[in-house]
Amino acid sequence: MCGIVGYVGKDKALPKLITGLKNLEYRGYDSAGVAILDGEKLDIVKNKGRIKNLEEILDYDKLGGNIGIAHTRWATHGIPSLENAHPHMDSKHNFAVVHNGIIENYQELKEKLIHLGYTFVSETDTEVIPMLMEYYYEIEKDVFRAFQKTTSDLKGSYAILVISPLLPNSILVAKNNSPLVIGKSEDGIFAASDIPAIISYTKDFYFLEDGESALINEDITFFDKNFKEIQKNYKTIDWEVDATSKNGYEDYMLKEIHEQPKALEESLAGIVLNNKPIQFMNLSLNKDYLKELSNIYIVACGTAMHAGLTGKYAIEKLCRIPVNVVVASEFRYQDPILDKHSLCIFISQSGETADTIAALKLARSNGAKTITVTNVFESSITREADYTIYTHAGPEIAVASTKAYTSQVGVLISLAIYIKETLSGSSSDTDLLKKELLSIPKLMEDIMKDTEAYHMLAKEMMHVHDLYYIGRGNDYHTAMEGSLKLKEISYIHSEAYPAGELKHGPIALIDNGTYVMGIITDSKTSEKTWSNLEEVKSRGAKIILVTNQNIEEDIVIRIPLVNPILAPLLAVIPLQFIAYYIAKEKGLDVDKPRNLAKSVTVE
Ligand code: G6P
Repeated sequence: MCGIVGYVGKDKALPKLITGLKNLEYRGYDSAGVAILDGEKLDIVKNKGRIKNLEEILDYDKLGGNIGIAHTRWATHGIPSLENAHPHMDSKHNFAVVHNGIIENYQELKEKLIHLGYTFVSETDTEVIPMLMEYYYEIEKDVFRAFQKTTSDLKGSYAILVISPLLPNSILVAKNNSPLVIGKSEDGIFAASDIPAIISYTKDFYFLEDGESALINEDITFFDKNFKEIQKNYKTIDWEVDATSKNGYEDYMLKEIHEQPKALEESLAGIVLNNKPIQFMNLSLNKDYLKELSNIYIVACGTAMHAGLTGKYAIEKLCRIPVNVVVASEFRYQDPILDKHSLCIFISQSGETADTIAALKLARSNGAKTITVTNVFESSITREADYTIYTHAGPEIAVASTKAYTSQVGVLISLAIYIKETLSGSSSDTDLLKKELLSIPKLMEDIMKDTEAYHMLAKEMMHVHDLYYIGRGNDYHTAMEGSLKLKEISYIHSEAYPAGELKHGPIALIDNGTYVMGIITDSKTSEKTWSNLEEVKSRGAKIILVTNQNIEEDIVIRIPLVNPILAPLLAVIPLQFIAYYIAKEKGLDVDKPRNLAKSVTVE
């Protein structure tokens, strides 16, 4: 979703802004633009499409200023077009603005400004911001006061950067419900929508709270929501710069698939130890609280929601506490049954997904205890939840989530064991499960040793129009994730069904040559799922079986036998590879699939 970068410093701003935008490409976008301030001269250049389209029309000599702001836009209000691309300006060209988020009251503000004689050139909600700046500047004759008044008028979510020839050498910054970080380096100060955008320039970051703002020039002055000056401390991030590069892999997604053993190992480190009770830093749920729990909700979107389903499976199996998994955008509107006896777990790789954060706020306001599982240090969600558990997958750049998913699954299984141990102490069963969990990274590596079989299958399947994934229990959860991966990056229509449900409708879609991917990792359900596969096979389907059971099929991908609670951690890997290779064979941009954004910061 929209990306923002700003720079003030000793160097020319433009090259730094373009690097920052390129680092943000993974978020998904449809147009890009920059504004550069050089003394009194404010220039704006923008273009539709990829950043390379913008680069083609940039004159680096002309745009030599050392202050600038830049933006990649993911259309919400108005089609992807030059007019709608950011930065936006006021009518006197005094204020250039980039914005991420949605101004919910923009219609009202726009009408008011039109009534006052202002003319708008775009369909965006953002354009009201420079217009309001102009309006208030006329009254106040002071840029910072105009900025205060402008931001006070805005309702909704925003991360905003403003530059102006009327306020030389400075960038104004404001944040509310949209991600924004400020990074300080020896050569200058950056503002950006996330850490990877500027990690190659600095590791020292300031994090703004909602409602806070800042004035950046040779230093940073921070203000609270009442515009009173406040002090803030920076935090040093330990991500390696290399972690955001492709490291020799053709795509980020391939690199991230291969990083799963390490990501899981690091996410479990310090939490899961052989023959020791599980412990989470900063999280303590006592036995009396857990005994009184009426229910657990797991709330998330997309892949994170699929990880949540494996968490439900583990908690219910081990702890016998009912767990509901709810898509975040539905949670708020289904009047969830919440009180102090509810525990709500929110999963978000980015920690910035607007629906998940809104759901979390609702749960808290209804008295529930909230835990978030996220991969991004100090992301917005961490500031809302009672407890944060970090996955340590490192930056995930490809839009289609892989290593964050398996790290989330690992952490949720650990949480399930933790709840079980807190309720009834360690046992030989939980000790065995922990031992097996710790062995998973090595087993993942074994599955990844030879990827040629996945590649060959992908070549065979690249022209299919539909692909069905089926399984029972936790295998159904893996089927859902496999199907989502395929849709996201190969644009092939795909559905996941509980195996037993096929004959209640979907089997009508099975035709000669339709591919059905079966996942069987649990001896308790293997025969039943296998019969369902036989049913579709007798109607002409071609079966691909991912299994750790002793079953023969024409095409079988064998994975190691583990406890069914842990099986998604292994079974998902061949599905990730197959989706990846199909998309590659089709010549698609695997890391940046069409229409998708890595982090969806609007509801
Ligand atoms: C977007 C991404 C998905 C991701 C989902 C949730 O839709 O394209 O890959 O699973 O958001 O993201 P989160 O950061 O909250 O895990």
